[in-house]
Amino acid sequence: MNGTPGILAPESAASILRAPTPAAWVDDALDQLPELLQDHANCEKKAASTALALMFAYPEDRALGAALSRLAREELRHFEQVTRAMAALEVPYVRQRPGRYAQRLRAAVATSDPARKLDLLLTGALIEARSAERFGLLAPRLPPPLARLYADLAGAEARHFTLYFGFARDAAPREWAMRLAALALQEAQLATEPDVVLRFHSGPLRVRPG
Ligand SMILES: [Fe+2]
Ligand SMILES: [Fe+2]
Repeated sequence: MNGTPGILAPESAASILRAPTPAAWVDDALDQLPELLQDHANCEKKAASTALALMFAYPEDRALGAALSRLAREELRHFEQVTRAMAALEVPYVRQRPGRYAQRLRAAVATSDPARKLDLLLTGALIEARSAERFGLLAPRLPPPLARLYADLAGAEARHFTLYFGFARDAAPREWAMRLAALALQEAQLATEPDVVLRFHSGPLRVRPG
């Protein structure tokens, strides 16, 4: 995204991203599919728990609570889908240390409200948009059962982007565009700069395994 945040097309998840995923990340992900699937399963659990945390933080926002309750259930269904796919492919579920992406993005979030609520909604929108983009990039390069799952998930995460983005704009009609510009820049750096581990939201690997 190079334009002014104020003229974003909110329907397009990719329009919120400041930089596209590098082709090298897609190659790394396909080279390390078990690692990617394990992190993907963790991301779906985290997406559900992030939605629940927002519901606890802002119980007075009943529209948000209702939307996030549905979203959390959907993320848990995604978790079940990816773990079934892992079992079918005989990919073990092993404990992984988290990558830098969520932790560094969370560090950029304001610590007090009302700025915090806006930041949490915008980071939610950015994470969902990046997920939608990457599912869409991976789907055509995967074997049939995973290709179908990833194409479906690209559509679901694009919907989640729209949901978070809509609540963010409603929460702060004047402030959202400027905050988005800062957070989207940070997100794009984390998703594109060389990384030390392959994760669903990592950058491409600094050194590709031989
Ligand atoms: Fe999901
Ligand atoms: Fe999602």
